Amino acid sequence: MIEQLDVLLQQLDDLRARAIAELEAITTKAALDEWDTRYLGRSRGELKNISAVMPKLTKEERPVVGQKINTVKAELEQRLVAKRESLQQRELLAALEKERLDVTLPGRTQAIGHMHPLSRITLEITQIFMRMGFQVVQGPEVETDYYNFQALNIPADHPARDMQDTFWVVPGEILLRTQTSPMQIRTMEQTRPPVRVVVPGKVFRYEAVDASHEAMFHQIEGLLIDEHCTMADLKGCLERFAQEMFGEDRRVRFRGSYFPFTEPSAEVDIDCPFCAGEGCRTCKYTGWLEILGSGMVDPRVLRQVGYDPAKYRGFAFGMGVERVAMLKYGVNEIRLFSGNDLRFLRQF
Ligand code: DAH
Repeated sequence: MIEQLDVLLQQLDDLRARAIAELEAITTKAALDEWDTRYLGRSRGELKNISAVMPKLTKEERPVVGQKINTVKAELEQRLVAKRESLQQRELLAALEKERLDVTLPGRTQAIGHMHPLSRITLEITQIFMRMGFQVVQGPEVETDYYNFQALNIPADHPARDMQDTFWVVPGEILLRTQTSPMQIRTMEQTRPPVRVVVPGKVFRYEAVDASHEAMFHQIEGLLIDEHCTMADLKGCLERFAQEMFGEDRRVRFRGSYFPFTEPSAEVDIDCPFCAGEGCRTCKYTGWLEILGSGMVDPRVLRQVGYDPAKYRGFAFGMGVERVAMLKYGVNEIRLFSGNDLRFLRQF
C-alpha cells in the first residue's frame, strides 16, 4: 500500500500547487468564490474528494494522509482569506481612484468688479483732504455765467475767458461749467467762515481732443477760508497732499502764475516720482511735474460773497483728476479713461 500512499501524497501536492497557481490569477470576487467551492467545498471540493479515500487506508497511512490534508487545507484557507482581503483592498482603491479629487487645483474664483480708476483716484484725493478737515461738496454741471466767470473775477471781456472755450447752453448766460471753481462761490454764499471744502466733479471744455485733452474731464477744487491763513498753510497743505498721493519723499515747488480769482497765484509742481527729480520722459527731463493751480483767494472774490477781506483770507486750488491718475498709474492717453474698454479698466 506504500505505493498508493505516495500517489496520494503526490496528488495532494499537485492539488496544492494547482490551487495556489489558480488563486494567484484570480481578479474577481466571483472567481474567488468559485475557487473556494472547487477546492475547499464541503460536499464536492477537491480536498473533500481526496479525504473520501481515507477509510480505504491502513491505520498507519491514515494519520499521514490526514495530516497532509489538514496542512494543505489550512494553507489554502489562509491564502483564501489573504486573497479576499487583497481583492477588497483593490476594490476600495478603485473606488477611491474614481472619486479622486485634486485638492491642489486652484479654486474657481468669483470675478469681483471694482471702481473705475478715476473714481478711485477721486476717492483717494478727497480722503487725503478729509483727513485734513476738508468737507466734500458737489455742485451743478450746468452753471450760470455768473458763478463760472463773473463772481470769480472773470468779467465778460476778460482775456481769461479765451483760455476756456465754453459749451454754451444759453449763450452768455448758461453753460457747462469749465471748472469746479464756481463751487467756491456757491459754498461761500451758503456758509460763514471757517470754510474747508473739496469739490470733485465733471467739467467741460470745447477744445480739440488729443492724448492729453478731452472735452469732458474731472477736477477737484479746494477752498479754505479762515481768519489766519497764509501761503505757508497752502504750501503745507499741498505738500502733505503730494506726499500722501505720490510718496513721502515728494517735494513741491511753487511757480508764480496768474488766475483771476487768486492773488498771488501759483502753479504747483512735484518733483518727478518716476526719476526722483533726475529727469525722465514723464517729466520731459525737467525733474518736475505740474499737478495743480492754486493761490490766495483774491479779496474781490471774498467781497463778492460778502466776506470781509480785512478779517478773512484763504487759499484755493484746483487739479485735474485725469492728470493725477495718468501720473499715478503711468497712463499716457487720457481718452482711455472715458473709453470704457474693459481690457484697460480691468488693469486697475
Ligand atoms: N480753475 C482753474 C482751471 O480750471 C484751476 C484753479 C487754479 C483752481 C487756481 C483754483 C485755483 O482754485 O486757485 O484752470
